[in-house]
Amino acid sequence: MQTTDPLKPGYNFDAHLVAGLTPIIEGDELDYTIDRPGGMKGYIINITSKGEGTIFCGEQMFHVKPGDLLLFPPSANHFYHRKTDSASWFHRWVYFRPRAFWNDWLSWQEERNGVFLTQGLDAQTIEHIENLFVDIEYTAKSDMPYRDDLAINLLEQLLIRCKTVQPDVVSKPLDPRIIQAINYMTQNLNQDFTLEEIAAHTCLSPSRLGHLFRDEMKMTITQWRDDQRISRAKQLLVTTHYSVNHIGRIVGYSDPLYFSRVFKRKAGVSPKMYREQIT
Ligand code: FCB
Repeated sequence: MQTTDPLKPGYNFDAHLVAGLTPIIEGDELDYTIDRPGGMKGYIINITSKGEGTIFCGEQMFHVKPGDLLLFPPSANHFYHRKTDSASWFHRWVYFRPRAFWNDWLSWQEERNGVFLTQGLDAQTIEHIENLFVDIEYTAKSDMPYRDDLAINLLEQLLIRCKTVQPDVVSKPLDPRIIQAINYMTQNLNQDFTLEEIAAHTCLSPSRLGHLFRDEMKMTITQWRDDQRISRAKQLLVTTHYSVNHIGRIVGYSDPLYFSRVFKRKAGVSPKMYREQIT
């Protein structure tokens, strides 16, 4: 049976974007299980605004509460309803057919039974994201010119926001002791400092510092120091007329052969060639 109300079974989602709010209250006409075993032709993004919902049944079952986000890719099973001990479940949703270049935004870190889930966001982020859902719905339903383009544009913002809050995308601030180590090395780049000296400045043992540095920076202290020295050397090669050996000494290599070797390994060419290519 066909209907023109997307909240009722039988609505044909033959559109690029449909958005709405489903206000499920215990005992009301919308208080049934949304059950689409083969998924849908498009994606659905969903945010709980009030009450709680239950997604899936049996072992795959999980619950969502205000601020939780769900992303159903096409063909992921839709099976959800009001959580039985919650008086209501209000959720906002946007159904859409994505553009090819959105691909990267359409996968989140946590996935349950083919459905992506994001929980635990802070109140301000949730408010911002929920406002985008509201704007999309009102824009799409308005009669303003270019409403479809505007609604799609807001949906892009929503999807990008959701991607940027994924734990694997959010960049974690560096450990303050690593910042201390980096500052110490930057100030003494031309000196022959030892691991023990840096460690003493960070109140860590040399081996603990070595491990922590590797974990946070994904490289060893020596690699990091050499990267910094070589990038300073590159700058001096193109901005001064100092000899190669002199530059090597300025950046911390007293042995010219060793300087050339490290430079070539990092830059792919010798310091002399580098200068000739650029200047
Ligand atoms: C409505 C549901 C909503 C969403 C849209 C596509 O009927 O209430 O959760 O699935 O369909």
